[in-house]
Amino acid sequence: MIDWSKLTFHYTETDFVVRSACCNGVWEKPYATRDKYIKIHAAATGLQYGQECFEGLKAFRGIDGNVRIFRMEENARRMQRSAEGLLMTPVPENIFCEAILLALEKNIDFLPPYETGATLYFRPVLIATTPEISVGPGKDCEFIVIPTPIGPYFPNGFKGTPFIVNRHIDRSAPQGTGQWKVGGNYAASFRASEVAHAMGYECMFTDAKTHKYIDECTASNFIGIRQYSKLQGSARTTAKRSTVSNANDLQRSDLIYEYLTPRSSAILPSITNDSLMTLAREMGLKVTRRRIRIEELEEMSEAAACGTACVISPITKVFDPDKNCTYHFGKPGPILTRLYNALQDIQYGRTEDKHGWCTVVLS
Ligand SMILES: Cc1ncc(COP(=O)(O)O)c(C=O)c1O
Repeated sequence: MIDWSKLTFHYTETDFVVRSACCNGVWEKPYATRDKYIKIHAAATGLQYGQECFEGLKAFRGIDGNVRIFRMEENARRMQRSAEGLLMTPVPENIFCEAILLALEKNIDFLPPYETGATLYFRPVLIATTPEISVGPGKDCEFIVIPTPIGPYFPNGFKGTPFIVNRHIDRSAPQGTGQWKVGGNYAASFRASEVAHAMGYECMFTDAKTHKYIDECTASNFIGIRQYSKLQGSARTTAKRSTVSNANDLQRSDLIYEYLTPRSSAILPSITNDSLMTLAREMGLKVTRRRIRIEELEEMSEAAACGTACVISPITKVFDPDKNCTYHFGKPGPILTRLYNALQDIQYGRTEDKHGWCTVVLS
């Protein structure tokens, strides 16, 4: 019996995985199996050369008892882009979605109940299986969806997490593989995260070319909220902490609230960030995607990491060890709290899903 409230972001075994192999360009119909091990040739290009990519998406038990899978088609399309980036055979969208729905159906007992804070996470993995020794891509592959119930990604959850600026170990190059969800990027980031953890922080990656700009927050995108007076224009920012206590009166305020997120060719286009940008615009925030200098943290009233795993994880502070300075944000601010609630309300079926983001499975 699983204690849902004790789940963290770690693997818990479920009954079935769903698999489909592609041989000579022909995909098998996805099938459920209890066999979680793959028999793979030791010379497979997935093992030799890291020809592998993956995804991450969640199913939520809603307030009405129905199940909602969030933006499944977007994950299917991003996995296709990752596969194309590594010259792998992309998984057709219908096979991807069929596999996710089957994985949900076969593991429905592992879907955490509403209001436990836990969800059923799917980890689709695509690995090239063609045996080859000469350096080059293989076309045959195995696609597997691994479901697992999970809790919060960052141990502090919505309470907030401290980050440290990293300029010394790069995750991905500006014209490299950072925009795709490929395993190699994560292996490349382990050392940086370990260094950060040893100092009590999560790792904030900077751009690998100049190390002046914010790239990503471990395996999440970065969001900052900046506010400035409508009269002053964008040249000057106001006091750091938002004066709008419940953030419901953004339009009436004499301040402009700006949602800032990095534009970089080396970061993963987050589906959560894309959704939050839409919600932010609807709330009356100005949404800006551009390069963001580390020092600009000084002008922000709120900051957070965002992604499927953590949804929004507010940043309590950012320590820059090379400049020996700390940017303080403290407790979660009102704008990010409102965005967090707006997204979770859609995911849990508490509000209308105007954008058609959820695939609803009736129970
Ligand atoms: C490197 C990286 N950045 C950002 C994200 C957030 O993306 P998403 O919101 O699609 O989960 C993830 C997680 O998938 C990630 O691994």
